[in-house]
Amino acid sequence: MPDVFTLNDLISRDRLDAGQSKPAKLAVIGFPVSHSASPRLQQPALDATGIDARYIRVEVEPGKVGEAFDRMRALGFIGCNVTVPHKFEAMEWCADVHPEARSLGSVNTVRFDADLTRGFNTDGPGFVRAIADDFETSLSTQKVFIAGAGGGAGQAVAIQCALQGVEKLVVVNRSFEKLGPLVNRLRALGSMTEVIALSFDDPSLAEQCHDCDLIVNTSSVGLKTGDPSILPADCLKKSHLVYDTIYQPAVTPLLAVANEVGCQTANGLSLLIHQGVLAFQHWFPQTDPLAVMRQAMGRK
Ligand code: ATR
Repeated sequence: MPDVFTLNDLISRDRLDAGQSKPAKLAVIGFPVSHSASPRLQQPALDATGIDARYIRVEVEPGKVGEAFDRMRALGFIGCNVTVPHKFEAMEWCADVHPEARSLGSVNTVRFDADLTRGFNTDGPGFVRAIADDFETSLSTQKVFIAGAGGGAGQAVAIQCALQGVEKLVVVNRSFEKLGPLVNRLRALGSMTEVIALSFDDPSLAEQCHDCDLIVNTSSVGLKTGDPSILPADCLKKSHLVYDTIYQPAVTPLLAVANEVGCQTANGLSLLIHQGVLAFQHWFPQTDPLAVMRQAMGRK
């Protein structure tokens, strides 16, 4: 049984389920997808809830998301998660997109209902819960500084902040031009949030950072061994809450610097868990897999 399935495997149950006691009914699709931690939290939740289903990884090439949905639907799948780079393409193939996902501009959770394919986004709401969980505070009360806001994760976090009505949002990106569309989207939401877009070499970077309460890394800087901290120590102060959406390594270069400054810090494990809980609840309403997923990921 392969660790990662492909679109070609989604042709028959024989191929998917050979030698398995449970049928594959949920999946995460991505390209690549072998790194996805979702099966590690979703399968224990399925098992603990007594649901006779397997959660698998399926590698789907860009441009093939619609075909993957059709095949999963034909095989009787309940739904799927969608990871990089398919979160935008997935939205196009959902006949019904939840308003929150529409605002966030991407879909990470899909449910194959009898009538329609429905799309949701649990990254944004998962982030709200992660901040509440790790820092015992409400995101809506924070002035937020997002480093690396040009990618998919940055967009979801930034828009969620505006949806929560934060007073101030500073978005920073290496490629400054990528912030234009994001800022337009943020303004189109019509929230009262003050939005400031900066590049990393802006002379006011440290001052703007000091004026915020919550600092978030949504860039991929910190994933690879030897990566630097996305922000220098002089941007941080002791009262900052510092959240890194990366969870591997557990202490990213940014969090190491923040720890030295004396900030409260947390990594992206809570986001991984909460987006997973919310996805599970879209498939199985009236369940509460939080404790099982926490335990599966080694959290209390
Ligand atoms: P995704 O869409 O999966 O979130 P992405 O498009 O690769 O991923 O975006 C990752 C983010 O990390 C972007 O904000 C990217 O900045 P650019 O838009 O300028 O590429 C940021 N990033 C990646 N490597 C970086 C680096 N070495 N320094 C600063 N930012 C970096």
